[in-house]
Amino acid sequence: MRPDPILADTLQSRAEERVSAFQRGGGPFVAAVEATRMPMVVTDPTVTGNPIVYVNQSFIDLFGYSHEEVMGQNYFFLTGPDTDPEVERLIRAAMIVDEPLNLEVQLRAKSGREVWVAQFVSPVHDNQGCLIQHFASFWDITRRVRAERRTQRLNEVLESRVRERTHELQKELDRRHALEGVLTESIREKDKLLSQRRVLLHEVNHRAKNSIAMAISMLRLQIARQGDPNVSEALENAIQRLDHLARIHELLYRQDSNDVQSVDMAAYLTELCRNFGHLQSPDDLRIELMSDADDITLDVDRAINVALITGEAITNALKHAFPDKRRGAVRVGLHHEGEDVLLSIEDNGVGITGPRRPGSMGMRLIEGMARSLNGTLTIEGDRRTRIAVRFPAAIRS
Ligand SMILES: Nc1ncnc2c1ncn2[C@@H]1O[C@H](COP(=O)(O)OP(=O)(O)O)[C@@H](O)[C@H]1O
Ligand SMILES: [Mg+2]
Repeated sequence: MRPDPILADTLQSRAEERVSAFQRGGGPFVAAVEATRMPMVVTDPTVTGNPIVYVNQSFIDLFGYSHEEVMGQNYFFLTGPDTDPEVERLIRAAMIVDEPLNLEVQLRAKSGREVWVAQFVSPVHDNQGCLIQHFASFWDITRRVRAERRTQRLNEVLESRVRERTHELQKELDRRHALEGVLTESIREKDKLLSQRRVLLHEVNHRAKNSIAMAISMLRLQIARQGDPNVSEALENAIQRLDHLARIHELLYRQDSNDVQSVDMAAYLTELCRNFGHLQSPDDLRIELMSDADDITLDVDRAINVALITGEAITNALKHAFPDKRRGAVRVGLHHEGEDVLLSIEDNGVGITGPRRPGSMGMRLIEGMARSLNGTLTIEGDRRTRIAVRFPAAIRS
């Protein structure tokens, strides 16, 4: 319904009347209110709509409306779309029950700029105790609210970053736990495989030893069945070599090491020498056997080659170097020489005299083993005998 223009005019003139009456009656109080920096408003609740009947200059400055635009307006024209409806309800309720009100409210200036104010509204009564005015003062807290919002936004950003980072860390932690689980499992698996392999190797070694023992007994049978001393000697030599081979294997797999693939050569050669020492009769230990090795580890194949060369050379020394019950010594050495390893078997016997016996096999075996090691063989036999093989420490692929 459109307002009656005559009624509107009447209301307007009545409001103006009251304003001038207010300003006239205010005296020094009005002058003080006019001078203060705190925006203030007076409304008239006795008129429908509770129109504004007075604003001071600070109010005009804060909200940017002119006197004319403000006068006669309901006080709620200052609320923008963002004002909490709850705030409006509270103000209306306080006005109805005639009580003072203290609130922080978001309002809008004429330019649209948001203005946060701490607002105090109190009822004013006349001498008879009748409500005649509402007096409202505002304190501009826009800067404080903005600073608070900024801090809040910063806090939110910070919190979300912390949450993100925590999440990432948790994910990383989970990933590591999972990885740890996989690793533990594969280590367990590897240990199981290793122990299985150890059992298998011992089994294979056991069978190999049995087979060698069987071969030796067959050769013995053959020696017994024929009368040619040359054949007998050849077969004896073969038996000796097979026996040596059996010992080499035995020593290899008796190692305490968990690593069945590599051989600690110093320990291995010490054992080998002790074994050959036992070949001499206990009451006639004329020939001293000793070994001296650097800390060298070799794979099984090359360890066997080294052991076979050493075995042949020691056998030769025991057999040929010390005739007529001479005393002496055999030294086995295994040392680093730059990138190479030098194996040497040296005795202080008579040296190699005369030409090689036809059909002899030991030296040829040594040559073959040296080739397998990619090594260079040198044989010195002028006064004493020294067999040396120099081979690369690293396996060539
Ligand atoms: N350490 C040594 N001292 C003296 N003579 C050796 C030594 N090693 C080898 N010989 C000589 O070299 C020869 C060839 O050795 P080898 O090929 O092993 O044959 P075998 O030992 O069967 O006679 C031997 O017969 C021996 O005369
Ligand atoms: Mg020989």
